[in-house]
Amino acid sequence: MTRSNRRHGPGRHLGRHGGRDLSALAEDFGHHLPSLPSAPMAPAPTSMFGGLIPLRGHRRAGAGWAPVPAPLPVWQMTSDQTPGVWPLIASDAMPATGALVGIDWLSGGAFHADPIGWTLSGEAGVTNPNMSVFGSPGRGKSSLIKTFCLRMMAYGYRTLVLGDVKDEYEPMCRALGVAPHAIGPGLPARINPLDAGPLATGWENLTASEAQRRAAIIFSRWQMLLQGLIGSQGVVCGPSIANAIAHILRQLTGYTDGSTHLREVTIPHVWHALDNPDDAMIHAARYRNRQHMLDETRSLRDALGSLVKGHLAGLFDAPTTIDVDWDAPVQSLSLARLEPLGDEAIGIGLAALNSWGRAMTDAAEPGSAPMIVVRDEAWKVMRLGVDAVKALDGDLRLSRRDGCVQIIVAHKPSDLLTVGDAGSQAVAIARDLIHLCSTKVLLGQDERIGEDLAGMLGLSLMAEQVVTHWATGAPGRALWIVGQRAFKVAAVRSASEIVLTDTNEAIRR
Ligand SMILES: Nc1ncnc2c1ncn2[C@@H]1O[C@H](COP(=O)(O)OP(=O)(O)O)[C@@H](O)[C@H]1O
Ligand SMILES: [Mg+2]
Repeated sequence: MTRSNRRHGPGRHLGRHGGRDLSALAEDFGHHLPSLPSAPMAPAPTSMFGGLIPLRGHRRAGAGWAPVPAPLPVWQMTSDQTPGVWPLIASDAMPATGALVGIDWLSGGAFHADPIGWTLSGEAGVTNPNMSVFGSPGRGKSSLIKTFCLRMMAYGYRTLVLGDVKDEYEPMCRALGVAPHAIGPGLPARINPLDAGPLATGWENLTASEAQRRAAIIFSRWQMLLQGLIGSQGVVCGPSIANAIAHILRQLTGYTDGSTHLREVTIPHVWHALDNPDDAMIHAARYRNRQHMLDETRSLRDALGSLVKGHLAGLFDAPTTIDVDWDAPVQSLSLARLEPLGDEAIGIGLAALNSWGRAMTDAAEPGSAPMIVVRDEAWKVMRLGVDAVKALDGDLRLSRRDGCVQIIVAHKPSDLLTVGDAGSQAVAIARDLIHLCSTKVLLGQDERIGEDLAGMLGLSLMAEQVVTHWATGAPGRALWIVGQRAFKVAAVRSASEIVLTDTNEAIRR
């Protein structure tokens, strides 16, 4: 018996003349020739993915049908050798919770961003819901943030844009039926950065300990803001000046006298009180006499005076006039009208808005909708000096308590480091500030900046190249660092979002 007969039984592959046919010959060498199907092949089932493709392809002309399945190379190795042979290949995708951002290029799946969800589940070592977004102009920072906010709205998140310096968020607000609040010279809107906010409501009914707790929060925020603003005028706030400010704030609100409600205080009130100190204040702030206090606080008074009388006069020195609708999906405070006044004015405006925004989000009711606070151009605040940096630092630290997603945006890390001399305290705080953001989104950068970024964030060479090569290939591409994990993500916008986020429109026109 031949080998073939032994295998397949007699008569199975006998040809026309009784000999063995081609298929028997091929089978001797381990190949199976396909037999001609008796009935025509059923069409492949169609599905939402465009129809399933059979193993050998569709059997029709030009459809790439193959008579035998394509051979697959097979490799065998241990799991500790695999990452050496194929580095940076797909890790598990992030869970599909939160806003759908786009395509995760390594896993080939969808990438979702959910900073609060990640913090709660401790995903990949995420410890806070803050995000920092870096990228040179035109890389798609603002588009990414806008689409993220829009998509989080589906989960009940509200967005507060604290200082839209280029009126970029306006189309999005208008599409949601919300008019942004514009602040600028000649406009009626006023923001009082010394607004006590919702923490002061119902003050008369608070227990002594609750009033004390809230007063500590309010006064420390005001103190931080005033020190930041004074610092921006080049006046260093020593302990005696800090002491005088603390005392004045308590006296002006009526807190020192145990008043049943907190009186509204504005920056001009503080300035006038320092200019005309009464005996109680001089004594409490531990100055020898009135002249001693006036001499010691001269630079402080001048600094406050220049804020009240300078080019920002009439913007941040009166009770708040805008009525913020906290139930609206988005609220935006535009500072674009300050642009002609220069970066310092915008920085001061942003610092004032930050302090006010903190007051407004301080007393988030338990169970109220979470908020995304967008601080575009955050670095302009940081240029004001060490106290302004400390104030921003404080805001980021509070995000865990308030359940806010704080987003800070900058072009490059060195923007944040312009705050002081290398090695200074301000620079040290600014460096740490980046680490207060567990999620970092690094859009495209040129190679020189990529090196800085890699140095600051401890990126591997491969991760750095994703930022300087792959991410520069198209807007919206970014390396997302989520806790300890990194993802290559290309953001995708829908047709309706493109209309709201296209900032090249102006150039085209
Ligand atoms: N994911 C994306 N896909 C395609 N184009 C995008 C994407 N994101 C942004 N763009 C385009 O890139 C341009 C710059 O975007 P923008 O968000 O204003 O950048 P940036 O804020 O970094 O300066 C816009 O015209 C926008 O339409
Ligand atoms: Mg932008």
